[in-house]
Amino acid sequence: MLTSELRAFIQNIPKAELHCHLEGSIQPATLLKLALSNSIELPFENEAGARNFFEFKNLNQFIDILSFTASTLKTANDFETVTVELGADAARQKITYREVFLSYDAHQRRGIPWHIVNEGIARGRKIAQEKYNVEMWFIADIDRTTEKEVSLNMVELAHASRHDVGIIGIGMDSKEAGNPASRHKAAFERAKELGFRLVAHAGEDVGPESVWDALSMGIERIDHGVRAIEENKLVQHLVDIQIPLTICPVSNIQLKVFPTMAQHSIKQLMDAGVFVTINSDDPPMFGADVVENYLQVAETFNLIAADIEKLARNSFKAAFMDDVKSSKYLKEFTEKVAQLRTELFNEV
Ligand code: ADE
Ligand code: ZN
Repeated sequence: MLTSELRAFIQNIPKAELHCHLEGSIQPATLLKLALSNSIELPFENEAGARNFFEFKNLNQFIDILSFTASTLKTANDFETVTVELGADAARQKITYREVFLSYDAHQRRGIPWHIVNEGIARGRKIAQEKYNVEMWFIADIDRTTEKEVSLNMVELAHASRHDVGIIGIGMDSKEAGNPASRHKAAFERAKELGFRLVAHAGEDVGPESVWDALSMGIERIDHGVRAIEENKLVQHLVDIQIPLTICPVSNIQLKVFPTMAQHSIKQLMDAGVFVTINSDDPPMFGADVVENYLQVAETFNLIAADIEKLARNSFKAAFMDDVKSSKYLKEFTEKVAQLRTELFNEV
């Protein structure tokens, strides 16, 4: 059982989140409102129904459900609403900085013009900063199941709107099995040339070979990466290069990557010296926000305050920000942690 002090420490410690998807972060109440205004029929009528609907067998089935729920987003106002909600939700969890994945391909396939997505997000991001003091940046995700020409084109479009929308990087998500990152080599190369930061989901539904494949694309963080544990040489390599992993523990249980939290690889990776951060992925769909992810890991693996502090500090260290900004966030972090330690653990 976690002590109330450790719970309060987890709730109040400043955090950065580096792995959550805009389309997977629509709260059930908002989904219902969007569906109503955009004449989309959902297979549930209330929030309890949504919780029942969000039962997943595996990653591929989850992606199909996600594509369906994302289709409730139609107008610029819809995108603004969800972006502002991400800001409010961040503030509630003491997330002061958030990098959010955006699936342009999925919206384009549904015929939603780029400028609609961009207008809404640009407005929402500004409101989140002004109203909630939360800094948000976006990472445009390549859908790894698409053709290489499509991903290359997405990089060019992301480049054209990067300043308005706050697009900081290019990532890759969706169905991992049978869809190697290297198919999109040209897109990653072009993104690098354009000065984007590079990340990719890997080692979630496929084992170490997918992580090696993503690493060969020059990525700077690995989203999930939890199945790296299946190969000692890979774990050692991750330790050597200190590439951050953005792990989403509850997502991994919900999508059956590990049968239970006790069998999750996160603690083994931490103990081996891999650079680990904790994130939420698609919080309402997995029934767990960032705080809940920390709580479940802390409870399962008997973490202490020093472990939580390291994980949260890692989240700022792994963020795509320059040294000046990073020093500012880390200074605020250190001051707040000292205050919390005094208040909660009577440390001086
Ligand atoms: N898109 C949203 N969540 C995802 C996940 N966990 N893996 C791959 N693609 C995703
Ligand atoms: Zn993800």
